[in-house]
Amino acid sequence: MIVLDHVAKTFVTRGGEQVAAISDVSLEVRRNEFVCLVGASGCGKSTLLRLVAGLVAPTGGRVSIGGATVTEPRDDTGIVFQAPTLLPWASILDNVLFPLDMMRKLDASGRARARDLLALVGLSGFESKYPRELSGGMQQRAGICRALVHDPDILLMDEPFGALDALTREELTIELMRIWQERPKTILFVTHSIPEAVLLADRVVVMSARPGRVAEIIDVELPRPRDFDMEARSEFQDATRRTRELIFGGRSARAN
Ligand SMILES: Nc1ncnc2c1ncn2[C@@H]1O[C@H](COP(=O)(O)OP(=O)(O)OP(=O)(O)O)[C@@H](O)[C@H]1O
Ligand SMILES: [Mg+2]
Repeated sequence: MIVLDHVAKTFVTRGGEQVAAISDVSLEVRRNEFVCLVGASGCGKSTLLRLVAGLVAPTGGRVSIGGATVTEPRDDTGIVFQAPTLLPWASILDNVLFPLDMMRKLDASGRARARDLLALVGLSGFESKYPRELSGGMQQRAGICRALVHDPDILLMDEPFGALDALTREELTIELMRIWQERPKTILFVTHSIPEAVLLADRVVVMSARPGRVAEIIDVELPRPRDFDMEARSEFQDATRRTRELIFGGRSARAN
């Protein structure tokens, strides 16, 4: 479904300095697969997502979806950004409806779906508010609704739960798995949380430090549907331990 073939991205800063964010990433994400991406801060996870989203162009290699090279944002893709990116002058409902509006597919069923999604993330009653009237976590939840409103085949999520409290985070994790199992999608999900990655993913892609490469891909053998009780299982612990080893590279991550 999503294929990255020897993809590289080097940024040139305003001072003319070259920053290699990603070098030589090859990865295939299968249709309806749930893939999580983990790695140290600055290793190029957001850059990788933006490449797949068609928001930036690679400086080497090729990104394709269903065989077609990605050159611009696609209608069948939804993206949740790391920081909330709502339009300040539009209401929460209009923000969620924005993708449908852009595609000229805004109708009554779209509006109903937007309201349902807002209810799902606990934002009923906030439809006519403006982003500045909501907390950061609430804005992030509205951003998740916006990414889902057109029921995209591909969902790109950049630390979507990062700004949320632990309880909301658990609730939305379960909800996202439910949405994904009801209406299968191909999901590429970036997170800083190793347990979250292992609980959600079919495969966890561990990236090495900048410039990012794929260090290893870990298959998660846990059955579905999943829940937080599975964190006690050996499959869960094996996968989280291996991920930690790769990220911390033999160095102990223990406090003592
Ligand atoms: N537009 C840009 N111009 C210049 N450098 C950039 C740009 N975007 C990203 N970078 C650089 O590319 C590298 C990777 O950034 P990226 O945001 O992809 O990392 P990340 O893995 O998402 O980090 P984090 O976990 O902190 O979100 C960083 O060194 C960053 O400074
Ligand atoms: Mg990032």
